[in-house]
Amino acid sequence: MVKLLLAGTGLIGHRHMQHILDHPSLQLVGIIDPAVADKEIKGVKTYKSLDDTQLDADGIVLATPTDTHASLTIQALEKGMHVLVEKPVAASLDEADKMIEASEKTGFKVLVGHHRRHHPLVNETIKIIKSGKIGKPVAASLMWLMRKQDEYFEVDWRKGIDGGPVKQNLIHDVDTLRAFFGEVTSVVGTGTNVIRKAPRHESGGIVLSFETGMILTIVFSDATPTPWGFEAGTGESPYIPKTNQSSMFIAGTEGGLEFPTLRLWNGARHWNEKPSMTQQNVSEAIPLIKQLEHFAEVIKGNAAPIVDARSARETLKVILKIEQETMP
Ligand SMILES: NC(=O)c1ccc[n+]([C@@H]2O[C@H](COP(=O)([O-])OP(=O)(O)OC[C@H]3O[C@@H](n4cnc5c(N)ncnc54)[C@H](O)[C@@H]3O)[C@@H](O)[C@H]2O)c1
Repeated sequence: MVKLLLAGTGLIGHRHMQHILDHPSLQLVGIIDPAVADKEIKGVKTYKSLDDTQLDADGIVLATPTDTHASLTIQALEKGMHVLVEKPVAASLDEADKMIEASEKTGFKVLVGHHRRHHPLVNETIKIIKSGKIGKPVAASLMWLMRKQDEYFEVDWRKGIDGGPVKQNLIHDVDTLRAFFGEVTSVVGTGTNVIRKAPRHESGGIVLSFETGMILTIVFSDATPTPWGFEAGTGESPYIPKTNQSSMFIAGTEGGLEFPTLRLWNGARHWNEKPSMTQQNVSEAIPLIKQLEHFAEVIKGNAAPIVDARSARETLKVILKIEQETMP
């Protein structure tokens, strides 16, 4: 059994908690959250802060507000635990650097919660791109067009920039884009907040350039209830109904691929020929569970983190630039 602590029992922490409790190889030895301290949750003792616990745990899952990630990660590493910290890795690049330094100094690992890397559809897309079936990717277009319910923004930390769709949602897209196409070399964009008029990002358009010379556009908005966005298209979240629609179109020198429907178009040499479409079927899995299983392997020394703090820092760097470009 791998013994885990969990800090934070909000929106995402609750899901981690249930997956740990249900898993036959994981044991939840304590829960830390000032909002629920001194109550027992599902037979597990709760604590007000990480300072209060002297528990024997192999690792900790940090599902706390973003501005606590760096300090809690460093504290946990110094207490001798491996850390699975939610995305974004930290609120700033300086904080991320301190986390990388603490991990190197203590020898304990940091895995960052970019759980889409564990999604079978993401892994199949990486395989298709690498197989050359669409040739060399030259351009792509991604949509993230979801409407969040107004109550979502009633939590204090979500009222400002940290609650906007760039740091909350596009950060996952940027992480998977890096897995698909390599590093981002430039970011330009524009944004508006005409619907909610809140002091944070709402809608915007971005152009990303990649080291390979590929160009990708993103349109995003958290004020429109369309079927087009990763969560809706894949059904990865139990709270967001699955629409099975494509939200990204990838164009290569030999054809195209729609994501996440995996509709693969190829066979045409130019526009006078009609491409044919085939669709891949991929078995389903719950990425948050796969990520916990990967964390257990990292703890046992059998694997290196798929997304470590250094990789997540690169994603954060792109996200901070997108935030700057698209701030209304
Ligand atoms: N991977 C994902 O898909 C995903 C989804 C949502 C949120 N997140 C990330 O997870 C983090 C939490 O987001 P959320 O929406 O669950 O937030 P939330 O506000 O719903 O919950 C945060 C919880 O942390 C607790 N908390 C605050 N400070 C603490 C501390 N020092 N120690 C222990 N507990 C503390 C709060 O009481 C609260 O219960 C954010 O960084 C967010 O970006 C990731």
